[in-house]
Amino acid sequence: MNSSNVTVIGLQWGDEGKGKIVDALAGVCKYVVRFCGGANAGHTVEVGDQKYALHLIPCGVLTEGVTNVVGNGVAFDPAVASEEIAGLEARGITLGPDNMIVSANAHMVMPWHKIEDILSEKALADGKKIGTTARGIGPCYADKARRSTAIRTGELLDTEKLSAKIREIAAIKNKYFQALYGEAPLNADDIVADYLKYADTLGPLVANTGAILRQAVTDGEPILFEGGQGSMLDIDHGTYPFVTSSPVTACGVPTGAGIAPSAIGTVVGLIKAYTTRVGAGPFPSEQDNQTGEYLREKGHEYGTTTGRPRRCGWFDAVAVRYAADISGVNELALSLLDVLTGLDELEICTGYIVDGEELTQFDPAVMDRAQCVYQTLPGWSQDITACKTYDELPEAARNYVDTVERIVGRTIGFISVGPERTQTIFHNTKVKGLK
Ligand code: GDP
Ligand code: IMO
Ligand code: MG
Repeated sequence: MNSSNVTVIGLQWGDEGKGKIVDALAGVCKYVVRFCGGANAGHTVEVGDQKYALHLIPCGVLTEGVTNVVGNGVAFDPAVASEEIAGLEARGITLGPDNMIVSANAHMVMPWHKIEDILSEKALADGKKIGTTARGIGPCYADKARRSTAIRTGELLDTEKLSAKIREIAAIKNKYFQALYGEAPLNADDIVADYLKYADTLGPLVANTGAILRQAVTDGEPILFEGGQGSMLDIDHGTYPFVTSSPVTACGVPTGAGIAPSAIGTVVGLIKAYTTRVGAGPFPSEQDNQTGEYLREKGHEYGTTTGRPRRCGWFDAVAVRYAADISGVNELALSLLDVLTGLDELEICTGYIVDGEELTQFDPAVMDRAQCVYQTLPGWSQDITACKTYDELPEAARNYVDTVERIVGRTIGFISVGPERTQTIFHNTKVKGLK
């Protein structure tokens, strides 16, 4: 195993602060690789007074010398990528084939995917709506699985074939939209024109990224795999059907990046000090009350991608332990600890009651009727945002950290006490090259 590699994944329902930790670790890596999801992700990095919200471009982009890789498992939206690259360029960060490559096998999000995402959600009855980000992610992966109506990024390199294929698929999609939703909204000429533009601008970034990464593994060049979403949104292991459409645990890294399972390196599981969820679906420790409101306002819990208010609740140690087991998490990164400052008492979910019985094995299928069993811990009121070491934290905050560590059964490697790059305590991490 190449032990200098690192995999960073979310263990909750997304937005655990992955962007910040990926940026903090990027300095010791040669490659930063997205392997799942697409522009449904919103990863925030704050450097000094500059704030970056990245959706498709890996968070290694703010570190010099890093090659940013969009892996084959990503749903690649060339419209979002173009916009994001232009936005970064306007801020002095230039992206080209020397510092960003996109897998030829990554599936492209097409305009019909975004339309279908919106129309299919609209057609669902209340209680059945998933609350997607409307970025076309589900329909893109559905076409990937269907094969006949899919277009991969590598196809940008043959514009004649690409144009013909877009026209062919647009005709099929229009029939489908007409039959199902009573409208045929696509103009193939416009889509062809846009994708020919992307062929010009993004074509040079298309590469055999799997081969490049496997060579890096052989050469011992450190790779950081940047997760999207969170484990409870995983297509297989999450709270289905209220999930996203790709494998987002560490198990998704080998397929989504094209490397061997043994090359995923140290698995760092990101956890917020409480829990949030955006979109529909079960959330046993949700606090739809003043506590939830407090967490939302103090933690600025509004979606990075859609701006929607996030649902907030207490830390759920049972769900996190399940997620950590699936991914073989080696250490945890605990983020947004500062948001808990000022609450008199804190609750941690340590078990569930389902249909009057104690649940012994976590089961996402019964989460809609799970009642949480809580352990209560004392809060703290001191400002912790300037703490540089674990020892500088107030006793109650240290107690909270230790309790999470004990109940989840994993070491806490990092503690984040604010959004800025330097507000990170390197606690018991074993990630190589940091100390
Ligand atoms: P991601 O999707 O996992 O990368 O997380 P998001 O960027 O969507 O959401 C995390 C939010 O919390 C962002 O606004 C970050 O700037 C912010 N953040 C990250 N770590 C901390 C922290 O330790 N404290 C506070 N107050 N904010 C944080
Ligand atoms: P990051 O990487 C939080 C959620 C959506 C919805 C469900 C399905 O920033 O943590 P989709 O558009 O993927 O079909 O929506 O998944 N979702 C996220 N929630 N953070 C994310 O990414 C998410 N990506 C998808 O809100 O509930
Ligand atoms: Mg996010």
